[in-house]
Amino acid sequence: MTRVAVAEGASSRSALSTTETPTPASLRQTLPLVSVRGLEVAYDGQNVLDGVDLDLFPGEMVALLGASGSGKSTLMRSLTGFAPISAGSVRVAGHDVTNLRRGELRTLRSEVGQVFQQFNLIPRLSVMTNVLTGALRGAGAINVAGGFSSAHRRRALELLDRVGIAHKATAPARSLSGGQQQRVAIARALMQQPQVILADEPVASLDPKLADSVLELLREIATEDGIPVLVSLHVLPLALAHSDRIVGLRHGEMLVSGATSQLDAAALAPLYDDEEHGDDDHH
Ligand SMILES: Nc1ncnc2c1ncn2[C@@H]1O[C@H](COP(=O)(O)OP(=O)(O)O)[C@@H](O)[C@H]1O
Ligand SMILES: [Mg+2]
Repeated sequence: MTRVAVAEGASSRSALSTTETPTPASLRQTLPLVSVRGLEVAYDGQNVLDGVDLDLFPGEMVALLGASGSGKSTLMRSLTGFAPISAGSVRVAGHDVTNLRRGELRTLRSEVGQVFQQFNLIPRLSVMTNVLTGALRGAGAINVAGGFSSAHRRRALELLDRVGIAHKATAPARSLSGGQQQRVAIARALMQQPQVILADEPVASLDPKLADSVLELLREIATEDGIPVLVSLHVLPLALAHSDRIVGLRHGEMLVSGATSQLDAAALAPLYDDEEHGDDDHH
């Protein structure tokens, strides 16, 4: 009967049986799915991340802010073993990313769902097939030659329904609007049954209304499934409206880290202090 605490969202969930002893908030808080301490990443001898600390707890949506070049993408890449870590510790879903055992990198990457600015779908393949490719990245990857099982197909359809585009299942991905494509990408990430979701500028290519709805969807996934979502954004109001916490980088250093409810545009302004005017390419 005992449920694993990390599988539960941070908010109270009605599905939790009343006969169970609730997991104390204090215990939940000792189990971050991502824990980064003193992270340093250097390219060409130059630190692009310099002493970053980050925890991601089940059920929370954390916005990552910072000017272009501040290190947001590098921080995300560090979590999946794609950046040259020169100091500090990085733990993700039980893996020590700085000291992975043989074969563990693949497992780690299968446990981290990723969403990108350009969606990264396979344009000519159907929406359904794009979602199913998420199963290929999942733990215990299926045999490609054998095709996808009916259980996989059922699950992919359920996920498409959840993100609101089941009616597009057979359409080629390229025929969908940007907002719809990003929903497919989110369904694909969920198909992996991820422990954590990293979304690098997921709404930078969408108009504001769609941006709101995609961020709402990500936050709903965090809350309902207990999957922490780290989302980098460059629009302050979006971060303030759609996150539980905000972490802000400037030149690779953590300048801001706090509850969104305690922050406002003025508190975040220093992140963009020395950004050159008219030189913001939003990447
Ligand atoms: N593969 C790389 N080789 C050399 N420098 C890099 C590489 N990736 C990122 N950088 C540098 O690291 C800094 C942070 O980049 P990035 O993480 O992409 O920032 P952001 O996502 O916040 O725009 C930038 O100065 C960038 O030029
Ligand atoms: Mg980036």
